[in-house]
Formats: sequence, structure tokens, C-alpha cells
Amino acid sequence: MDWSGRRVLVTGGAGFLGANLCHALAERGARVAALDGFLFGGGANPRNLDGANVELVRGDIREIDLRPLCEGAHAIFNLAAQTSHMGGQADPLADIAVNAVAQVRLIQAAREAAPDAIVVHASTRQFYGRTQKLPVDESQPVAPPDANGVSKFAGEQYWMIENRVRGRPVVSLRLTNCYGPRLRIRDARQTFLGIWIRCVLEQKPFEVWGGAQLRDLTYVDDVTEAFIRAAESPACHGNIFNIGGPPPISLHDLAEMVVRLAGPSARYTTREFPADRAQIDIGSYHADDRAFRTAAGWEPKIGLEDGIARTIDWYRSRLGDYL
Ligand SMILES: NC(=O)c1ccc[n+]([C@@H]2O[C@H](COP(=O)([O-])OP(=O)(O)OC[C@H]3O[C@@H](n4cnc5c(N)ncnc54)[C@H](O)[C@@H]3O)[C@@H](O)[C@H]2O)c1
Repeated sequence: MDWSGRRVLVTGGAGFLGANLCHALAERGARVAALDGFLFGGGANPRNLDGANVELVRGDIREIDLRPLCEGAHAIFNLAAQTSHMGGQADPLADIAVNAVAQVRLIQAAREAAPDAIVVHASTRQFYGRTQKLPVDESQPVAPPDANGVSKFAGEQYWMIENRVRGRPVVSLRLTNCYGPRLRIRDARQTFLGIWIRCVLEQKPFEVWGGAQLRDLTYVDDVTEAFIRAAESPACHGNIFNIGGPPPISLHDLAEMVVRLAGPSARYTTREFPADRAQIDIGSYHADDRAFRTAAGWEPKIGLEDGIARTIDWYRSRLGDYL
């Protein structure tokens, strides 16, 4: 698809995945508006949009008039969310307000101002919960382990209704752990890998909780490509897809890889999963994403070792901007 001159709205556009997507769309010539409320504890960082030809709109999807932002949009990439699992447990009402209620606001605005726009919604593997069978395909039952899983599932389903009832081209991508440049590394709120990277760059030991859990991780450029292909491929519209990455790895082996790539001062300790987190932990996960590969002609291009090395290198000269 030729994106040049097309109007695109990216919600959550100053966050980790949203900002990377904004860069890629702007490089393809799209006229990109990035909406972001810079929510406390999220991944928004003004530096994330440095160098991108993108209009940044600071606003909260719970309050801002969304119609002018949707007006004339060819596509809406919908990534704004309350993403913290512990945050959702602590304040489920705030979590629902962003991940479910504000989704309905956006749907209503889009009906009026961009009735034909393609929507690619950022969903999550989180609400499969503790799965019995690996790898996880889209037919596995949904059993959210926490409040955030419930609100994210609701948000996704409101968008899918928009497809079924009104025929809007909607794609929902259930993402696994994503990583790469522009990730929040100040703490572990976005992913454990964020704080690991910070620690190795500050020459401090990081903690591995448990270690036997399996995870698949998608490098952010592959995630960006998945979003764009989802919009571009009619075969994807109206569907929900799991997005995985290269073959899964245990957290212990991942920690060894990080240490090997970060240099001689990098080290880690292992401890038991903290009790309050263990209650909402999903255990091992890796996605069966063959449906998306077939529909979109997508596959992850960046191997794990390459991606981790690129990520650590990217932060070496930018650490101060991300702490
Ligand atoms: N990063 C991952 O590993 C991962 C995994 C599964 C799903 N996802 C989903 O992908 C999307 C993007 O995640 P991310 O990792 O880039 O997180 P992020 O926190 O970096 O990005 C989300 C952005 O949304 C913004 N936002 C939140 N509430 C808002 C509101 N009310 N109004 C306006 N902006 C608001 C935040 O300020 C933030 O910049 C989310 O929907 C998330 O649930 C991410």
C-alpha cells in the first residue's frame, strides 16, 4: 500500500510501540497524528518521537474530542492503554476507564468522523491466562488472570463488534512480550527486560524471578511491520491474531544471553517469584501465530540475540533520556 499523503491516527503514539510505529509510517510518507496523554507509569517519552515527522497531540482519550483527530483518517492504529498489571489490580476502575470505556468513545468518534478507516487494535496475550497447552493459538479459551486482562479483552471485543455489526475493517493483534528501542527501561512496569537492560548498563546485577518460564519475545521492528501489514492485508480484516516471535526461551537462558551480550560487568541473581505477583503470573507462554503469518505474509525477521544486542547498543548512548 502507498501510505504517502494518507492521514493516520496512532493512539498511544508517544509510547514504546506507538512511537516506533509513528516513525515507520512517517518514513513511508503518511501524515501521522500521534495522540498521547503521557500517563504516569506508562511508556510515553517525548524523546520517543525525536526525528519523526509526526504531529504530537497531547490529550487523554477519556476526555479529548476525538472526532477532529479521526477526521479523514485512512487508518487508526489504536495502542493507547493502561498496561500495568499491578496497576490494574490496584485501581481497576481507572484501568477500565482507559482500556474499555475510552475505547467506546473512540469507536463513537470514528463512526462519525472516519466511518471507513481501517483499525488495527493492540491487544494482548495476557488474557489467555495460565494456558494448558503450548503454543497458544487463537482458539484457546480466554481466562484473564487479572483486572487488566479483563479490561483489555473488553476493549478488543468492542472493536470486533464494530467489524461484525458495521463492517468496519478491524484487526486485533494479541501481542506477546515486545522489546527494542524506546522501551520503558526505568523500571519493570513495561516488561522485566526493561529493568534488566537498565541494570546491565548501570553495571548493577538484575533479578530473575523464577527462571524456568518460557517466553517468546518480538523485536519492535517486527511488531511495527505486523501492524502495517495487518492494515494493508484485506485477508486480516475482521480477525484476531496472536503475534509471536522467534522460538521461545526460558528466562534463565535469556538472562544468560543478556549477560553475554552486555559485557563483562553484567550479572544477575535468581529469586523466587514474589507472592503478590505469582498470583497473577501466567507461567510459560508462546504463541502459535501461523494464522497471521498466512494472512499477512509476515514473519519475524530479527532473531533474539540480534535484537537484544541492538537494544542494549541503542540505550548505551541514550540512557539518561530514559531514566
Ligand atoms: N509492549 C508489550 O510487550 C505489549 C504486549 C501486549 C500488548 N501490548 C499493547 O500494546 C499497546 C502499546 O503498548 P506499549 O508497550 O507501547 O505501552 P506504552 O505504555 O509504552 O504505550 C501506551 C501509551 O498509551 C498512552 N496512554 C495511556 N492511556 C492513555 C489515555 N487515556 N489517553 C491517551 N494516551 C494514553 C500512554 O501514555 C503510553 O504512551 C497497549 O495497548 C498494550 O496493551 C503491548
